Amino acid sequence: MKKSRIGVLTGGGDCAGLNPALKWVVKTAMDERLEWERGIRYEVLGIHDGWKGLLDVDPVTLEAAGHITPLNSDVVRTWDRYGGTMLGTSRFSPFDPKNDCSKLVARSIEKLGLDAVIAIGGDGTLSIATRFAREGVNVIGIPKTIDKDLPETDYTLGYETALNVIVEEVDRLRTTAGSHKRIFVVETMGREAGWLALAGGEACGAYIILIPEYDFSIDRVNELVTEGRRSGTRYEIIIVAEGAKPQGGTEVVKKEGTDSFGHKALGGVGEVIAQEIENSTGIETRSVVLSHLQRGGAPCAYDRRMGRYFGIAAIDLVVKEKFGNMVRMKNGKISYYPLEKIYGKLNLVDVATQYDSDRYNGRRSIIRDDK
Ligand code: F6P
Repeated sequence: MKKSRIGVLTGGGDCAGLNPALKWVVKTAMDERLEWERGIRYEVLGIHDGWKGLLDVDPVTLEAAGHITPLNSDVVRTWDRYGGTMLGTSRFSPFDPKNDCSKLVARSIEKLGLDAVIAIGGDGTLSIATRFAREGVNVIGIPKTIDKDLPETDYTLGYETALNVIVEEVDRLRTTAGSHKRIFVVETMGREAGWLALAGGEACGAYIILIPEYDFSIDRVNELVTEGRRSGTRYEIIIVAEGAKPQGGTEVVKKEGTDSFGHKALGGVGEVIAQEIENSTGIETRSVVLSHLQRGGAPCAYDRRMGRYFGIAAIDLVVKEKFGNMVRMKNGKISYYPLEKIYGKLNLVDVATQYDSDRYNGRRSIIRDDK
């Protein structure tokens, strides 16, 4: 029987849903019944720490090198219950202009005899996959990111679990906020995309939601807060995306510079807003940064299912040799889309149809015509 070797890696920020995808990549590739149908025996190598695991690989001592682990159904049996990634991850780009080691990585792929590489990641990881595809590597992408900012897919692994974290934490904050008549500004992740803040805010019933796609006016925030208090509210929950900024202002960063994917280290806007509100309105205001709590913990049911479907679909594409594509969920169906066509693009909130820019909240009308 023909043999074929697949490498699988997880890159960029971790999140819930990666391990279910890994499990189903391995189980589907090594499914004995499917093996006979396909006439191909697949072998799957787990590459550790994202693209970094492909630097400096010795094809003879794969395991000893510590960067590569042969996977099988027994190894991955329980993985779908766990958060994070059993393979480890990194924000390492072989195409980093300051230290380009893409040739080395391409050589490792060749030395390892990988007939296909499945990359599970967000915009950074999948952009790297696209660049290797241009150089003739057989890649398949699986979309993951709690930011949900990858275009042409309605779902990215980790998003739903992160939303559940936002809702759970805000439920906790409500009791303490109410007891003290305080305002809580809750900062979510999301980078330039407001999906997490918007959907998280809608799900938990936040009073105000601030997203990067619409620059806010702090005067309007204060006005809304004061209006709420006048109508008798005891406390307010304000959700702000880490990338949100005031009109005429800039994003708040934790530290200057960018990582190897070219991303800024955003963070701190929640506290800035809390101080502004307290200074202007005199209402006690606290801020909470949900930060990596949104990425941690066990995957929710939806991420387990989507990880499973994406993992299976990725192997279907390998079998059909439809390389250079990303599996995706679109209009309720699992399908695939060329990586090249999403290169360098982001999926952002459409303010006109999805945001109420007057009350800084979710949309107030959904069905706009009679269809
Ligand atoms: O890409 C996901 C993300 O969670 C962003 O929303 C956030 O800005 C970033 O990762 C934080 O990453 P790090 O793990 O490098 O702090």
